Amino acid sequence: MSGGVYGGDEVGALVFDMGSYSVRAGYAGEDCPKADFPTVIGVTLDREDGSTLMETDGEKGKQSATTYYIDTNQLRVPRESMEVMSPLKNGMIEDWDSFQAILDHTYKMHFKSEPSLHPVLMSEASWNTRAKREKLTELMFEHYNIPAFFLCKSAVLSAFANGRSTGLVLDSGSTHTTAIPVHDGYVLQQGIVKSPLAGDFMSMQCRELFQELGVEIVPPYVIASKVRSTQCVTREWLIMCTVIQDFQASVLQVSDSPYDEQVAAQMPTVHYELPNGYNCDFGAERLKIPEGLLDPSNAKGLSGNTMLGVGHVVTTSVGMCDIDIRPGLYGSVVVTGGNTLIQGFTDRLNRELSQKTPPSMRLKLIANNTTVERRFSAWIGGSILASLGTFQQMWISKQEYEEGGKQCVDRKCP
Ligand SMILES: Nc1ncnc2c1ncn2[C@@H]1O[C@H](COP(=O)(O)OP(=O)(O)OP(=O)(O)O)[C@@H](O)[C@H]1O
Ligand SMILES: [Mg+2]
Repeated sequence: MSGGVYGGDEVGALVFDMGSYSVRAGYAGEDCPKADFPTVIGVTLDREDGSTLMETDGEKGKQSATTYYIDTNQLRVPRESMEVMSPLKNGMIEDWDSFQAILDHTYKMHFKSEPSLHPVLMSEASWNTRAKREKLTELMFEHYNIPAFFLCKSAVLSAFANGRSTGLVLDSGSTHTTAIPVHDGYVLQQGIVKSPLAGDFMSMQCRELFQELGVEIVPPYVIASKVRSTQCVTREWLIMCTVIQDFQASVLQVSDSPYDEQVAAQMPTVHYELPNGYNCDFGAERLKIPEGLLDPSNAKGLSGNTMLGVGHVVTTSVGMCDIDIRPGLYGSVVVTGGNTLIQGFTDRLNRELSQKTPPSMRLKLIANNTTVERRFSAWIGGSILASLGTFQQMWISKQEYEEGGKQCVDRKCP
């Protein structure tokens, strides 16, 4: 065995899965993440022109720093000039300072432990760039001084969580819906298909519905409270997001078959009450809004669009893979991500794909029934992987990093 192999105790490994909607973090070997909090964080800016406290240090001549507010409770407290931001863009780390702030927060508040004591397995987008992977590796070893590191594509982890090393992973989260072919534990890059129609798109449509109905979503007490304009906008915005997301989960339903005005009119309505007391029965809109995910051609706000509906995302992805492995992909379509929890989503997808799958191939959708498994599949896959005995030789050890530099991530974590 080479001296570089990480020989520590795998029990203490930590698993991080950062999505655009929430950060999932916990101990390898456990069933679900210990922490799950919003990826969007609050940041206080010192001036109206947008310069941060950090930038004004020189002028003021005193020690000050940008302050981050992380986790739901922190965000709900009104603060002077707090703005919200996310460290991620297009599923990849874009703002490294706020990314670090989130890691610091997780170590301190959730693990209550020193980073140097635990190997870390992190998920990443399948399209993550080489430069960002190397920068992350460097940060984890140099700044956090961790003993071992591993980066794994979240689609591969989701497949593992569902007991598969080969399959087509359909993931619909907040910012995007993707189909990612996984073969023997590796992502087939040529088959990645992405669509921006996901949870945020649903939220936008719901917000428009309330606008059309002339309903103010934010309760009057928030508007009435004496807050300055900037923080008021942030706070209203955050509350609005929470209300809309609850509405999405409680009211929306994907229709069994392509949306039909007459059928929709017959559907049972769902009663929903907003925090401001407004309440209404929702009928046809319940089906009409999520229809855009499956058939974007008539979706509002997507004029002249060429976006793919979920069924097409899957078939296009399989079509870009070698013909020999297509049966293996159709035979294990793993459905994951919070947005797939909309009622009726998997039934409709199953129906659409059955019609499109070549007769020679067997179609099987693998969709966990529980919210936890659907939302946390990548984290769960990481938890399983990092605690496998056979995985222990896969870690990039600190020694390997020191000898080979940050490029070792390209070799060890494909
Ligand atoms: N029960 C539910 N019904 C409908 N939508 C839901 C439900 N639970 C969560 N969502 C939606 O799922 C989305 C979040 O999904 P998920 O946690 O998979 O995203 P993420 O992995 O953090 O983000 P991304 O994959 O875009 O980087 C949000 O838009 C949320 O509103
Ligand atoms: Mg995701």
